[in-house]
Amino acid sequence: MPIKIEGVTHDSPDWRHINWTSLITIVIAIPISIVYVLNRFFLGLSLTHVSLWLLVLIVFIVTILPVFALFVVFRSWFMVKLPPAKDIEKYFSFNDKTVRSWFGSSLSKTVPISHFHDAYMDGKIDIKQDLLHILNNRSSFADFRLTFAQLKFFFVHLIPEMLNHSRSMDRAQVTNHYNRGNDFYNAFLGETMIYTSAFFKNPNDSLEVAQTQKLDLVCRKLHLKKGSRHLDLGCGWGTLVCHAAKQYGANSIGITLANEQVKHAEVLFRDSNVANQSSKDGWAKAVCCDYRDTPREHRYDAISCLEMAEHVGVRNFSSFLRQVYDMLEDDGLFYIQIAGLRRSWQFEDLNWGLFMGKYVFPGADASMPVGWVINQLEENGFEIHSLENVGIHYSATINHWYDNWQSNREYIIKKYGPRWFRQWNWFLAWSVIAPGQGSATCHQIMCYKNTSSFNRKIFIGEQRSFDY
Ligand SMILES: C[S@@+](CC[C@H](N)C(=O)[O-])C[C@H]1O[C@@H](n2cnc3c(N)ncnc32)[C@H](O)[C@@H]1O
Repeated sequence: MPIKIEGVTHDSPDWRHINWTSLITIVIAIPISIVYVLNRFFLGLSLTHVSLWLLVLIVFIVTILPVFALFVVFRSWFMVKLPPAKDIEKYFSFNDKTVRSWFGSSLSKTVPISHFHDAYMDGKIDIKQDLLHILNNRSSFADFRLTFAQLKFFFVHLIPEMLNHSRSMDRAQVTNHYNRGNDFYNAFLGETMIYTSAFFKNPNDSLEVAQTQKLDLVCRKLHLKKGSRHLDLGCGWGTLVCHAAKQYGANSIGITLANEQVKHAEVLFRDSNVANQSSKDGWAKAVCCDYRDTPREHRYDAISCLEMAEHVGVRNFSSFLRQVYDMLEDDGLFYIQIAGLRRSWQFEDLNWGLFMGKYVFPGADASMPVGWVINQLEENGFEIHSLENVGIHYSATINHWYDNWQSNREYIIKKYGPRWFRQWNWFLAWSVIAPGQGSATCHQIMCYKNTSSFNRKIFIGEQRSFDY
């Protein structure tokens, strides 16, 4: 089914509209003012006293992030245009008087979108039409002002988690998500059980066709062939390793932290006749472990990582890439598919990113603009061969997931409860829009060790092998 973005997206002010002069003035003036007050009433130090300037520096370091965040929140209130709300009762019914009062007595005030999704997930409002259609018209009732609740989430959860990213934290967050129940994921991913962007050659491709095209594209980009030692980091339910073994004869190992995924993968491998590891025609295996514990009996000819690196986090990203470098043969290929926010973010993008961080993928903070990812790859010794933006393919993929989710509504509500249905409903609907309008996107990046001796001729002529 073709994607349904109905031309109702529009740009909101982005980071380039922030007045840097006032920001810098505030960031400097606040610590100086604090120290001035402290000195005047308590310390009484002279201006030439070193401790006074040391104190300015310490207060500056402590306040810079909160001041910056407060500045961004306040800017969002002034920069975001607020046309009167309309069509509220066409889209929603209210189960809660307080929520209704947010819109004013004549229902003409818009509401920050984060209040909106929270009220919807809490059952305080119900929808009268298809949610994707409603969200395509979100500017009639919602705006993208940031709220103090989001600021609190940023400081109390996001920043500490970004700084932590210990093994135990990663395990808790990742397993909590991916072990929820394979039926839960099947209800939107469909039979391929692939939780990453597909690749559409034609807008009418089915999800299954598009996912198989993506699997082929990855295997061909990695130049997989009979006997290739292939590692898939963050292998999900094992679909790629199975495909690599069955269609390309690779010896493929997938790593995931979720044992529910491994259980599913093992059945898939048996059913696909690729479970026998002494087979000369290729085999597949799934291991339940943290990526830091990947088996390293030998190095790999090809390493893939499809949308796991976001979970690695900013803090560990560089050491993760160094590990990949060490695990890869000198003539090996590395494919990384990674999603992230746009660099010139708009306030809607921040709202969407905070929603995803809070309700869908906690800890997946390495969802960074692609320039940052490329820098990290190059700093860690890789040469980039190709980079393809598949954001619009992601929008189409999630549109299929959204449709699947609608058709499994009753089942999910019965087994998991209405809140899970609504949470995922909002996530999927808004995530059709986000990559469709560039708020976030997804890149397929092919790279290899940037050594002088790497045989770059493999990218010419017949050996190239991954054109579509
Ligand atoms: C978005 S899913 C992608 C799954 C798969 N690549 C696909 O295309 O369907 C992310 C995967 O990364 C895995 N993952 C996340 N953090 C991990 C970690 N620290 N170690 C191993 N696997 C991890 C999850 O278990 C999950 O299988």
